[in-house]
Amino acid sequence: MSNVLSPQETMLQEVLHGMSLKQKSLPSKYFYDQRGSELFDEITKLDEYYPTRTERKILSENLVEMSSYLGDKIQLIEPGSGSSEKTRILLSGLDSICCYIPIDISGDYLNMVAEDLRNEYPTIDIQPLVTDYTRSFRLPEIHSNSRKIVFFPGSTIGNFKRKTVTRFFEVVSEIAGKEGGMLIGVDLKKDVNVLEAAYNDSRGITAEFNKNMLRHLNREIGSDFNPDLFEHHSVWVDDPGQIEMRLIAKEDHKINVAEEIFEISEGEYIHTENSHKYSLEEFEEIVSPWFKVVKVWTDESDYFSVQYLEPR
Ligand code: AVJ
Repeated sequence: MSNVLSPQETMLQEVLHGMSLKQKSLPSKYFYDQRGSELFDEITKLDEYYPTRTERKILSENLVEMSSYLGDKIQLIEPGSGSSEKTRILLSGLDSICCYIPIDISGDYLNMVAEDLRNEYPTIDIQPLVTDYTRSFRLPEIHSNSRKIVFFPGSTIGNFKRKTVTRFFEVVSEIAGKEGGMLIGVDLKKDVNVLEAAYNDSRGITAEFNKNMLRHLNREIGSDFNPDLFEHHSVWVDDPGQIEMRLIAKEDHKINVAEEIFEISEGEYIHTENSHKYSLEEFEEIVSPWFKVVKVWTDESDYFSVQYLEPR
């Protein structure tokens, strides 16, 4: 008999657990069904949502300099590659990339993207790897004379708890090896108004994105969350420094999840995501057991950073 839970069983367990906490909470990874991915894509195009456009600009404008740090024959490894959208800036702009290993948990989508990439970049060896990168994993042994560079854009690092972020860097430093490196996008602390506007956009796309998680859960595990009974709100929490996405109950009501009933009262909220922001000093300290920060690129407002790290 196998102990391995199906994705739905895992989801159910996590939802039951999150909803029974004193502070109700749901895992942010469940934002991303088909509709959630489309909504996130719309978010990245909003005026108020600065991270995506700023990171793209930093990457595009500093390619030549980045190239000098990354070396002349590189194996690019991307955990959680998704659509490989930003990676295309590197794949198009750096002729030093011999091989690209996109890593994602969703195999069908990953293979589809890999096929497109093979057509777009016929000279680059594209080797997709289906796995959950938050656990330790092994890479295929290829291009042994190339340098391993782990690319982790999008400030996805901001979704990790400050405590578990260290485990991620441990895994990545093993993957990169002593001779490797890492190129990572890190969102920075800034004016609270700018931050809160980015997560409470005026068109309400982020609100839709947040509530869509409830629809996603209902479809997968048969829960009966009613999105209309919740209001979206994101707030900046100063200590240690994160945007929290919340769904606030508009009235007292009950929610059925499998056999369990959860009560929520008016004004009580479900916490759906943390988006941690770092100062350059804080980030340097967090990675310091495994990596040294060799170079930091930012935009002119210091909203976002792309950082080049090397193992210690
Ligand atoms: C994909 C995790 C980087 O935290 O900014 C956007 C997700 N949530 N708007 C972020 C998100 C609400 C995004 N990350």
